[in-house]
Amino acid sequence: MNNKDEFQFAQYPDFLDAVPGLEDDLFELRAMPDEDGYIDCPFLPLRDIVLFPQMVMPLFVGRERSLAAIQAAIINNENLIVAAQKDSSILVPGVDDIYTVGTEITIGKALRMPDESNSVLGQGRHRVEIVEFIQWEPYIRVRARLIQEPLDWQRNTEALMRAVTTLFEKVVDLNRNMPEDAYTFAINIDEPGWLADFVASTLNISLEDRQNMLETIDPTIRLQKMSIALAKELDVLELEDQIHSQVQQEVEQAQREHFLREQMRVIQGELGEGDIFTRELHELREAIAKKSLPDAVRAKAEKEVARLGAMPPMSPEVGIIRTYLDWIVDLPWLDKSEDNLDVTHAASVLERDHFGLDKVKDRILEYIAVKKIAADKMRSPILCFVGPPGTGKTSIGRSIARSLGREFIRISLGGVRDEAEIRGHRRTYIGALPGRIIQAIRRAGTANPLFMLDEVDKLGQDFRGDPAAALLEVLDPEQNNAFADHYLDLDFDLSQVMFVTTANMLDTIPPALQDRMEVIEFSGYLEEEKLEIGRRFLIPKQLNQHGLADVGIHIETEALRTIINRYTYEAGVRNMEREIANVCRKVARSVAENKRFPKRITARHVDDLLGPPRFLQEMLQEKDEVGVATGAAWTMAGGAIMFVEVNLMPGKGSLTLTGQLGDVMQESAQAALSYIRSQSDSLKIKNELFEKLDIHIHVPEGAVPKDGPSAGVTMATALVSAFTNRPIRRDVSMTGEITLRGRVLPVGGIREKALAARRAGIKTFVLPKKNERDLRDIPKRLRQDITFVLVENSTQVLAAALLPLAPKKRKRSKAAPILAVPPPGAPPA
Ligand SMILES: Nc1ncnc2c1ncn2[C@@H]1O[C@H](COP(=O)(O)OP(=O)(O)OP(=O)(O)O)[C@@H](O)[C@H]1O
Ligand SMILES: [Mg+2]
Repeated sequence: MNNKDEFQFAQYPDFLDAVPGLEDDLFELRAMPDEDGYIDCPFLPLRDIVLFPQMVMPLFVGRERSLAAIQAAIINNENLIVAAQKDSSILVPGVDDIYTVGTEITIGKALRMPDESNSVLGQGRHRVEIVEFIQWEPYIRVRARLIQEPLDWQRNTEALMRAVTTLFEKVVDLNRNMPEDAYTFAINIDEPGWLADFVASTLNISLEDRQNMLETIDPTIRLQKMSIALAKELDVLELEDQIHSQVQQEVEQAQREHFLREQMRVIQGELGEGDIFTRELHELREAIAKKSLPDAVRAKAEKEVARLGAMPPMSPEVGIIRTYLDWIVDLPWLDKSEDNLDVTHAASVLERDHFGLDKVKDRILEYIAVKKIAADKMRSPILCFVGPPGTGKTSIGRSIARSLGREFIRISLGGVRDEAEIRGHRRTYIGALPGRIIQAIRRAGTANPLFMLDEVDKLGQDFRGDPAAALLEVLDPEQNNAFADHYLDLDFDLSQVMFVTTANMLDTIPPALQDRMEVIEFSGYLEEEKLEIGRRFLIPKQLNQHGLADVGIHIETEALRTIINRYTYEAGVRNMEREIANVCRKVARSVAENKRFPKRITARHVDDLLGPPRFLQEMLQEKDEVGVATGAAWTMAGGAIMFVEVNLMPGKGSLTLTGQLGDVMQESAQAALSYIRSQSDSLKIKNELFEKLDIHIHVPEGAVPKDGPSAGVTMATALVSAFTNRPIRRDVSMTGEITLRGRVLPVGGIREKALAARRAGIKTFVLPKKNERDLRDIPKRLRQDITFVLVENSTQVLAAALLPLAPKKRKRSKAAPILAVPPPGAPPA
């Protein structure tokens, strides 16, 4: 029926102004009490309301009897008596449900409210005591006595009034629900009773307490009670306020900082300084605006800058986003260097830097020529340089870049096992960075560098994903215009990059990768070539690097030859360069210390400077031996000669293989043995020997793992030699796979093997007939020094390698039976 808000609202005199036209007929006195001071009026029970004298308030009327009471009062021009119900939930209250002390009120016009309910404005006049309920239907009428309040002021009345107004002021101040002019209104009241009533009606106290105030007749006592109530209220309000402000404080602390920072920013902006964060943000924005970027990249960059700007500078994410934006700004998305497509210039650069390597040089010059004609239509080739260490793969890469006028960058893929190393980690990882490809591109600073991927043959693979798969994407011209790095999360165009990969051998490069590349083989150098490289390139380079260019040092050719043959054993020239550097260093020291030093460095000086030779020129066996054959192997370091030793001892025909032989090599030993057993008749070997003797095949230099079928003929030769006791020529080296029928199949690495054989001093090189075309790759000089014997079957191998039966006194192995066997096949060459 009502609520407290309206109740409180009603206390203000200007309420009357708000209801126009009511003033005139409102609040006139309509009935006079009889001589005894009793009045007899219609009665209105109030729910939740205590109406104090002098107070104006709307009374909402819902119940039939109440409506009838008001109508009667209006028609009869009577006043009304109101009193509160003890329990507001009772609809039809009886005598006991109503407080006896109530208020006589006058009423104004009845108002019909928008929601169809009725309301009437009432103003309290007197406290009354209901003495009798005269009638109940159709409305309640009561007889009541007017209560006279004592009007005299007591000693403490004034003080109490002041105390109440002071307390009330504080309450109004703290209670956000109370309008401030409530206090103004209160200090204008000069009647103690009315002040107490007014304050009681505004305070948030219970119905009982209000009723109690109504029933308290003496104004001074009322003021006393009121001041106690106010003090209590104040306590509660103060506590509330304290709690509230604590919470507020915590919230505000954060806001305050933000606010202060904002202010600082504005002030610094005004002063033209700007704080670091704002300045950096500004710089980033400018850098992005200035940089030429693909649309998608620009959009992403701008989005990230906006995110950054919205962040508090202390947020941990700020650093992450800033690093990311630095990457975007630093990467050469569209920055290309101009290619120098002058073929003669390129040719002269390549020639100036490197000796030989004609295949590579030609390929590069062709590329430049075609590029000049076809312009941008041509895709960059993906070259793969394969060859032994130190043969100039990396260094010619550099000089190709120089001849084209491109930047040169290089990464090594050796041991890369994790796909993320190529492609980067997603930004959600702590400390994430782009992969090596993008990192290198940033170093290059252009979108079209020459990019060398070293050691593709040593690419690893494990549970973290297959880096080769990522590499496939990099090297695929169909895909690499949109290379997806996990960190960038944007496509980078690698199609303008010229990729060159290098490897020491093709075998371990995944076939899918090989497929994408154009393989160019680099082979080991001959002594003469090494001399040339040393004389023309490495010696001047090292002299220069050691500050000896102007001292007039000359390293003689014989000195260089000594270095090559006695201090190095390699297919390339890296160790040679190192030893030349060694010589230069020693000389440079003498120069620096003002000591005597040789101006012309001879072979003897080399011995003095480098100490005892590390390799003997002759790597061969000291003499022709039974059961020791010289093979040739193809290793990562180029070619090498290799010995196969066979010992026979009394036993039961078992075969032992040692020297870290791989599966294929072991099988080829078995095949060689089977072939010999099956041919024992023609080889003149007694059959029962195979049951009586144990065979041990050993390939020395045991720490080096060896595999492959190409030692087949060498093992067969060593076996036959051991069984027949015929020595093997120490200056014959051989290579070739052997079948069970004794046929000799072609093998790889002929050129490297031949070079190694020559280094070792071999005079005859036995190789499969099917490898004949490989001889074309062998330099003429080498062909003059070595006799190449092309064979189709093992009989031919044996003919070339075995000597006639050794004289009986040359006893080699205690266990080897001495058999009188005439040499099989043709006599040795
Ligand atoms: N044909 C050549 N002419 C001039 N210098 C050469 C030649 N071949 C190699 N060199 C020099 O030999 C040194 C080693 O070469 P480089 O580092 O290019 O070898 P690589 O083939 O890359 O070896 P790896 O397979 O071990 O990486 C370099 O100083 C290089 O200049
Ligand atoms: Mg290299």
